Amino acid sequence: MTPPTQAQAILAALERFQRGLDQPYKMTPLGMWACSDPGELLDLFEQVDLAGHGHLADLGSGDGRAVLLASLFTRATGIEADPWLVATSRGLAQDLGLARASFLEGDCRQADLAPYDLLFIYPDKPLAWLEARLPAQWPGRLLVYGAGFRPQGLTHLGTLHAGRTLCTLWQR
Ligand SMILES: C[S@@+](CC[C@H](N)C(=O)[O-])C[C@H]1O[C@@H](n2cnc3c(N)ncnc32)[C@H](O)[C@@H]1O
Repeated sequence: MTPPTQAQAILAALERFQRGLDQPYKMTPLGMWACSDPGELLDLFEQVDLAGHGHLADLGSGDGRAVLLASLFTRATGIEADPWLVATSRGLAQDLGLARASFLEGDCRQADLAPYDLLFIYPDKPLAWLEARLPAQWPGRLLVYGAGFRPQGLTHLGTLHAGRTLCTLWQR
């Protein structure tokens, strides 16, 4: 399958999944699940040259949408606290044959972030924990979806518009 066809297959699978839900949001063991817009994610990943990165992690990956789409460009890992969302993500990745997408169940605030050179987050809470958790000499970049929360102690590299959503890019 060519990448555009694969992207369409992912978008269609996410739409089918979302159509089957009563509400596309819920409280989870450690936060609140709401979905980013997959079309906006594709736009965003092109703007940050995702293919030029080695490994993306989504911190709080929900139904896995950012990881599924990112895996078209590079290796991608989702870390999510909610077991049902992790199982959903894994099922979608398997059905879509996305071998570069993987998912870890757990608290992303305890994760080793050193292996990743691009961190993506659609935050449901302030980001002070993440700034404290980043390795001191971390050479990667942090991509924040939405303008609700921003890291205070990182260097702002740019502001990106993905559809109607304002996103920001940061480094240590
Ligand atoms: C706003 S949703 C974003 C979901 C997904 N990244 C997206 O773009 O659609 C935030 C997600 O982070 C998860 N989350 C919040 N705190 C977490 C933590 N400490 N460890 C793991 N997951 C967490 C929530 O369960 C929720 O699924």
